Order: sequence, then C-alpha cells, then structure tokens
Amino acid sequence: MLDPEAELDRAWSLPPECYTRPEWLVLDRQRVFGASWLPACRAEQVAEAGAYVALNLAGEPVVIARDPSGVLSAFSNICRHRAARVAAEGCGSATRFTCPYHGWMYDLTGRLTGIPEGVGMSTFRREDHPLPAWHLEVWDRWVWVHPPHPEPQPLAGQIGPFQEWLGDHMEGFRWIASREYHVACDWKVFVDNYLDGGYHVGPVHPGLAAGLVGKAYSTRVLGDCSLQSCPLSDTTAGAMAWYWHLWPAWMVNLYGDVADTNLVLPDGIGRCRVQFDWYARGDCPPERVAAIVASSDQVQREDMQICEEVQSNLSSRFYHGGPYVPKREVAGWRFHLKWAKATGFKLSGAGNG
Ligand code: FES
Ligand SMILES: [Fe+2]
Repeated sequence: MLDPEAELDRAWSLPPECYTRPEWLVLDRQRVFGASWLPACRAEQVAEAGAYVALNLAGEPVVIARDPSGVLSAFSNICRHRAARVAAEGCGSATRFTCPYHGWMYDLTGRLTGIPEGVGMSTFRREDHPLPAWHLEVWDRWVWVHPPHPEPQPLAGQIGPFQEWLGDHMEGFRWIASREYHVACDWKVFVDNYLDGGYHVGPVHPGLAAGLVGKAYSTRVLGDCSLQSCPLSDTTAGAMAWYWHLWPAWMVNLYGDVADTNLVLPDGIGRCRVQFDWYARGDCPPERVAAIVASSDQVQREDMQICEEVQSNLSSRFYHGGPYVPKREVAGWRFHLKWAKATGFKLSGAGNG
C-alpha cells in the first residue's frame, strides 16, 4: 500500500483497485482531468475565423472555436435543451452550431441564439443559458483548456518546468500527422509504463533500445512534471532523446528533428485513448512522414500489448502492488503520490503492502 511517509527505497505502488474500480474513474474525471489544464488542440487548427475543434476530454465534450470577429473560446459541447452534442466531434468550420436533436442554435462563443418553435417559454431567457465557458490559454503551439471550476491555477503552475525548458527545442517543427489509439488499460497503467525510467525499454522495445545509450538513461522530477533523457546511439553529436511527462497525462517526446506528443485520456473502466501527434523540423516529404509514424507505431504497439496484459492481471487476487526500483522508478513513484493527493486516495501510513 502506498505510504506517503515511505521513501522510495521502501515505498509500495498503488493498490490495483485504483486501476480497476469505477469509483476511482469518477475521481479521475473530477479531480484529475476535471481540475487540470489539458492541451486540447493545436492553435493552427483554430487559426481561421469559423474554425472549431470538438473533442471529448475524459468524458466532457468540449468545443474550441474562433468566432467571426476572431475571439477564441472554449465551452461545453452539451446542448442546454436535452444534452445532445451541439457540434459533431472532429474539426471543421462553421458560422454557427445547430443542435442535431431539435435544432437549437448557438454562436461560436457558445451563446444560445435560436430556439425553433420557442414561443411561449415564459420564464426561460436564452441569454441566461449559454454553453458553459471553459478557461482557455494559448501557449506555444497548443490550445490549453481547463473546466470552469474548480478555479484553475495558472498554466505555469502546472507545466512551468516544461515551459522554461522548451525554449527553442521545437523551433521550426511542424505538425505532420495524428493518430488515435484505443488501449484496454486504465490511463494510469499507460502513464506508469512511460514513467519507469526506461526500465522496460530493453525488454519491451528491442528496436528502440538499439538506438539509445541505455546506460546513460536519466530521470529528473521537476514539480509535477518529469524529464527522462537518454543519448541517441547513432549520432556522434551528442543528440538526445527527451521524454517529458506533464501532469496529468501528456507526454512530449523529442528525438533530434522529430517529436511526438501523446495525450492519454480515460475512456471508461480499464480503457484509455491516446492521441498521438507527430512533428518534424523542416520539410518532411510523405515517405519520411510514413517512416516516422511507422517506427513510432511499432513502439506504441509494444507498449499497448504490455499495458493491456498488466491491466488484465491487476484484477487477480494474487497481486497487491509491488516495490519501486529506486534507480529507475522515481518519476512513477512521484506520479502515484501526486495522484493520491489529487484524488484524496487514503494513503496508508502502515508501511509496505
Ligand atoms: S437537445 Fe439540442 S435541441 Fe434538443
Ligand atoms: Fe515503452
């Protein structure tokens, strides 16, 4: 059982129930994803007047839209009438949103502008019922959103170490491809796998391991973020692989002239979705894009396989969490402590499981 007082060398990982029981999924949605800034889309996707992106963030449908006068807003994508989704998921361009259920109309800032056959609604004032606004910030190339309550901390409070570090690391990088993966594991299993300090890289990713100087792998915990790094073996110039994890579940991976981001979102009990976006510096012809995506896809499939196996075994009567390997797993341990604090998970003070 996770013990807040235990140091890493005697600590024990989260109990399996945190990954399998519905009550923790509810808290993940409310207190983790529902109380965090999330990188919802790329700013270039909503650069033009009328452009919008509609997506589901851990169970909350949200729209990010730029209205004709250039104002960028984020708001709940749930109709004020009977809760249909106002904008279809995906991205596009619109002059207004018309609910597909009974035709209520909203403008691109979320104001309710029209109700078909709406005469005789004696007390309902449509100006009092816009779609609930979310907080929005554009930083670097991403649009970040946060639910209207609880009141958010400044974005820098959540991702400051990454903001300071990024500097010109992605200067000249352009988006080249996206893909979504559905994984049969709790989102925390996927994050745990990412945060094991390269411990699984040799056994699970032999192809990837060949390109890294595994002995030089290192992990730093920086606030609620962590940075893992490893020299790339095929360069003499000291190029590095950088692996950022930003609370709660966003990864940014940089390898020389290529980068990818992975947003992990819960998608039901024991299920998550991982949104991958790839970026590359300079011109990237289609063959190169295909090669970048294919090699990343290989690694992702290896991770998915092990994560799905772990999730399935977390329901066994014979597994009760395990210790951490201090040399590798400091970031995973800190992630568990942060998760316990965010959700109010009752930490055991009684020592190891
Ligand atoms: S649910 Fe949207 S108009 Fe009825
Ligand atoms: Fe992996």
